[in-house]
Amino acid sequence: MLAVTIDNQKLSVRENSTVLQAIRQAGMQLSTLCYWEGLPPYGACRLCLVEMTAPRRQTIAACTYPVFDGMVVETDGPHARAHRKMMLEFLLARCPESEVIRRLADEVGVSASRFPANEKTEELCILCGLCVRVCRDLVGAAALGFIGRGAERTVDTPFHAASDVCIGCGACAAVCPTGAIRVEDVDGQRVLHPWHTIIRLQPCQGCGQPFTPEPMSFLRTHVEGIDHVWGLCPACRRKQVASG
Ligand code: FES
Repeated sequence: MLAVTIDNQKLSVRENSTVLQAIRQAGMQLSTLCYWEGLPPYGACRLCLVEMTAPRRQTIAACTYPVFDGMVVETDGPHARAHRKMMLEFLLARCPESEVIRRLADEVGVSASRFPANEKTEELCILCGLCVRVCRDLVGAAALGFIGRGAERTVDTPFHAASDVCIGCGACAAVCPTGAIRVEDVDGQRVLHPWHTIIRLQPCQGCGQPFTPEPMSFLRTHVEGIDHVWGLCPACRRKQVASG
């Protein structure tokens, strides 16, 4: 175990932890947007900037910085607060209509941004890459990627076309912190916005309602012991299990 001090609180932290994990272990709050437990940290949003004050003074991203014995961190010093405020100004300029960004900005007293406003006022994507990482690293589909550079940088499917490897699981939407991705089940199809991708839904073998993306049927061969409920929607599955 490593001895770490965070905001004057002495902690004993497991090796290979990050500063963010130590902060959360101590029960302290630190807003994050691009961090998702279970995915390797990426350090994109810079909202988790804190200040290491010993053994040297340095502003660090808590989600990517590993703890080490004897380190001292301040989460709410003037430097760290100023950096986080500036990051929220950046994000506010990029996504002025995002409720999440506006709430976070409000919490730190930022009501307007000094940076040039995005012409796409409806933009919700903060380029945190969580959707790219979950699709590639957890789902294994790699249907999404970063495209372009600088102000043109975006996340999309290759060539902005419907993906032929997307399985329609919706993990991208589930991890998106700003609601930039939407999954809509309509007329027996799953529509993934803004990925231009439509996936057919397989009907439930009990009630006939479309409920699960067809490409996900491969899971049947990967998960043992589900044959008796396979092909049933959640409601029919519960009935089946309840009736023994
Ligand atoms: S949560 Fe650390 S940089 Fe985004």
